[in-house]
Amino acid sequence: MELFDVYSLFDVVPVKASGCRIWDDKGSCYLDLYGGHAVISIGHSHPAYIEALTEQVNKIGFYSNSVVNPLQQELAGKLGDISGYGDYTLFLDNSGAESNENAVKLASFHTGKDRVIAFRKSFHGRTSGAVALTDNPAIVSPFNSHHKVSFCELGDLAAVEKELSGGDVAAVIIEGIQGCGGINIPSDGFLRALSDLCDRYSAVLILDEVQSGYGRTGKFFAHQWAGIRPGIITMGKGIANGFPCGGILISPEFKAVKGMLGTTFGGNYLAMAAALSVLDVISGENLLQNAREVGAHILDNIPADFRIKEVRGRGLMIGLEFNTEVASIRKSLLFDKHIFTGVAGKNMIRLLPPLCLSKEEADTFLNAFKEVLS
Ligand SMILES: Cc1ncc(COP(=O)(O)O)c(C=O)c1O
Repeated sequence: MELFDVYSLFDVVPVKASGCRIWDDKGSCYLDLYGGHAVISIGHSHPAYIEALTEQVNKIGFYSNSVVNPLQQELAGKLGDISGYGDYTLFLDNSGAESNENAVKLASFHTGKDRVIAFRKSFHGRTSGAVALTDNPAIVSPFNSHHKVSFCELGDLAAVEKELSGGDVAAVIIEGIQGCGGINIPSDGFLRALSDLCDRYSAVLILDEVQSGYGRTGKFFAHQWAGIRPGIITMGKGIANGFPCGGILISPEFKAVKGMLGTTFGGNYLAMAAALSVLDVISGENLLQNAREVGAHILDNIPADFRIKEVRGRGLMIGLEFNTEVASIRKSLLFDKHIFTGVAGKNMIRLLPPLCLSKEEADTFLNAFKEVLS
């Protein structure tokens, strides 16, 4: 049987990894400035992570959500402390898209309304509701296209208010920083005004922190730079350093009703062991501070080049926007310099390294980048 051929692949076969380094099947070592799409938060194969998963799988790997799993409560406690959202509740699921599905569903249950506002250049995932909230018609099938979704330009408060004024909007969903759309950072003022508007029109503000959360920007969640407190916060990617896991944080005014949300795998023992070790390492190794410092170091030292249009980012979520297509630069970084990077669209190199990236590793990238550009 062949694989359903939907991914464009680089001809690299990783077999081993540690920290920010990956080795392929030929023994070549690569520096990882992409974290497998922002997933590797505490570094590849962190010893604490390996130990937590190994210990847990030796005890019990899975049972359903019909029994008490104390690891879920332990995670909720630790997550509340580190994020500053101890008064919110936690629902656990399996991925970023599922978190966004659950968030809009919950907002719709809560308000009794069915329309959602999203933003141009958004990406919220590929399941039915999440993809309908994603501003990319190429990945929205006819079956997904019947949701009631309106798109506004990021930053256009008047357009949002016009949509909200009909009174039928359940939620506004926005990324802490747009990732796939090109590292577009909503201004703090815009986020605050958006939060006020949602309150005024009784719509739920959903912050998609799947990519921008979990310490990536140097605060636990990107929206915390603006000092707002959304109705629902969605998580995925870095939450368990590569073990599939997602979740949503829900503000206290939401009332849980038995059966309103559910999942088979969400909150399973292995995901919880992985997620707990991630939080321990994030605090034990000051990874938020590291993300701030090393991110600032990269932003300060990107070489001036006539092809670079703009450099945007916060912490270790950085976009290098070019006037021209970046495919050849990315290929050269990977195959000549052995450095993994990502892209957003055709003209942006996107950096989403593990949060433990050191200044020396950042310099290795910066020097290689200069050489590739010259
Ligand atoms: C902001 C954002 N939301 C949601 C998702 C979907 O996450 P997943 O691929 O885990 O479903 C992504 C994935 O890239 C994302 O960047």
